[in-house]
Parts: sequence; C-alpha cells; structure tokens
Amino acid sequence: MTSTPAKRIMITGANSGIGKELARQLALGDQYAQILLACRDQAKGDAAKAELELSTGRSVFHVIRMDLSSLASVRTVLKGVDEPLDAVVMNAGGTGGATPTALTADGVTEIFASNVLGHAVFLETLIAKGLLGGVGMFVGSEAARGVPKLMIPRPVFATSSVEEFASVIDGTFFAARRYNGMLAYGQVKYLGALWIAATARKHPRLRLITVSPGNTAGTQALRDQPAPVRSIANHIVMPYVAPLLGIGQKLPAGAKRLLDAIDDLALVSGNFYASAAKKITGPLIDQAEIIPDFRDIAIQEHADQAIHRYIPEPR
Ligand SMILES: NC(=O)c1ccc[n+]([C@@H]2O[C@H](COP(=O)([O-])OP(=O)(O)OC[C@H]3O[C@@H](n4cnc5c(N)ncnc54)[C@H](OP(=O)(O)O)[C@@H]3O)[C@@H](O)[C@H]2O)c1
Repeated sequence: MTSTPAKRIMITGANSGIGKELARQLALGDQYAQILLACRDQAKGDAAKAELELSTGRSVFHVIRMDLSSLASVRTVLKGVDEPLDAVVMNAGGTGGATPTALTADGVTEIFASNVLGHAVFLETLIAKGLLGGVGMFVGSEAARGVPKLMIPRPVFATSSVEEFASVIDGTFFAARRYNGMLAYGQVKYLGALWIAATARKHPRLRLITVSPGNTAGTQALRDQPAPVRSIANHIVMPYVAPLLGIGQKLPAGAKRLLDAIDDLALVSGNFYASAAKKITGPLIDQAEIIPDFRDIAIQEHADQAIHRYIPEPR
C-alpha cells in the first residue's frame, strides 16, 4: 500500500534563489502534499509557481501573498491560516533592499523587518494558535558570527542589553557610526538566531532551529549592489572562483543544507547551525561552539525582549 503525502510546508521568500530551489527539491520528494510559497509580489510568486510546476511535474505549489516587512500583511495572512503547517522555513530577507535603514510602518529598519520581525510575528502567532506541527527554521547566515574572508565584521556589542539590541532594530545603532551594510546584515541574522533560541525554550515540543545555507551562488542576493560588482560577482566570482577556493557553492547545494536540516533530528531545537569556523560552506556545526553568545540564555532573552518591543498586541 502506498501512503498519500499529507504534509504542508511554507517557505517565505520562495520566488527566487534558495527559497525557490528549496521548493523544487521538496517537490521532488514525496513528503509534502502542499508547498506554500509566501511571496510579497503576486506576479513573481505566480511566475515561480509556474516554473516549479514545469520543472517538477507536480501541482503542489500555492502562492500566498505576504510582505514580511509589514506586520499588517503578516497578520492578514495569519487570519486565513486555519490548517496546521508541518514546517515553516523563514527564508525571506537578505540585505534589506535599496533602503535597508528606512523605517517600516512598524518602526524597525527594512533589513530587520524583512529578515526577523515579520517572521517573529508569523511564527509566534502560528504556534499560539496551535498551527505549527513540527519544525520552524529561520534561515541564518555565517555573517551572524562574522566572515573575515568576505570582509563581514563580527557583530560585537558593548553590553548585549535589551537597549543595545533595540538600537539595532530601530537603526539608531548606526546614528553615531558610519553605516556598514554587511555588519547590519550580520547583526540582524545574529538577533534572529538568538530569538529562535529564546522561542525554542518556550516551546520544547517543537523543533525551532536556525540554519545557514552557506555562501551560495545563483540567487538574487546581490540585486542591490552596483551593476559592475553584481556582474563580476554573479558571473565570475560566485559560479567559478568561489567553488574553486572552497568559499562558495552552487544553488542546489545551498538549498540542500536547508532541505536536510528540516528532517535531521540530530539538529537540536534552539541551536544555530552553519559552517565550521573560518568556513562558509560544508558540514553544519553548532555555532555556539564558535560564538558562545548563541547559548547564553541572558543574551537570548535580551534579543527576544528587544524584538517584542516592536510587536504590539493585535487589536
Ligand atoms: N545566498 C547566500 O549566499 C546566502 C548565505 C547565507 C544566508 N542567506 C539567506 O538566505 C535567504 C535567501 O536568500 P537568497 O540568497 O536566496 O536571496 P534572494 O534570491 O534575493 O531571495 C530572497 C527572497 O526573499 C524575498 N524577500 C525579501 N524581502 C521580503 C519581504 N519583505 N517580504 C517577503 N519576501 C521578501 C525576496 O523577494 P523579492 O523577489 O520580492 O525581493 C526573495 O524571494 C536570505 O534570508 C539570505 O539572508 C543567503
């Protein structure tokens, strides 16, 4: 007797790059009856769905319009979710678009909103409604612990207080400093991993993890870089030079790290998994082995509290 797949998974930011490739790889397996593609742009979502149906021969994709930078948009989607999801992959985000420090209607920077705040409201509300069955995965990055090879500084904080973390969230951290987009990106992913750790402690029956895909070519991650930088990186460095030097991988490999992590019970809830120290590809290891902050309960709580300053109770 063959079993019918009944599981449902949502991937945010699924219209391009790693999110779309993860959707493709998931559809090639037989576990999921529904793969929800959460995208902020309906047309891009529809185009991704058509492409995925063609490449996999499966009709399991559904586009959900959700802008993670808007809590109003996230809450509208949540109102319509009434069937449980077995897994949510919180992949949307990146370096914050053309105006990463602009404040959203919710009073946080665009880069923080798109990577973390929208996901925090989505995941926590889903859990509160009893609608998350198993796994919540936040897509992190080695930038959260700094990548000297790529000139990404390690996020370092003077006090790791709620105040200091809140200053990252509302952008005032850079008020008296020169803005560094890669540091800002690392800080946001750092806070996201701490938020997952704090949330996992509150919900021991779920598996909530942060996983980095590793440095991955073939995505739109550099879309806001100047054209010459983007062109050299996308056409020469990422596809050819980086794999040769062992500092980059092709798109299927990045998505596969996430695919495998969804079902890998050896990955412990609350932990942040990414490449080994000084690496940005290869096997996953617990990042608390490199940066003890990630297992520091006080720091996790401060990050969680800072994030919750920007989440008003729904009326
Ligand atoms: N590529 C890498 O080397 C690498 C390494 C480590 C971590 N990551 C992480 O992996 C994730 C995927 O990145 P990628 O490299 O695949 O880049 P990508 O191709 O640019 O994909 C990012 C996706 O996020 C969506 N998105 C951005 N802001 C959003 C918002 N406010 N609401 C809804 N969707 C939003 C984008 O939608 P639009 O098309 O509408 O902009 C796009 O679908 C990101 O979280 C990134 O930080 C990537």
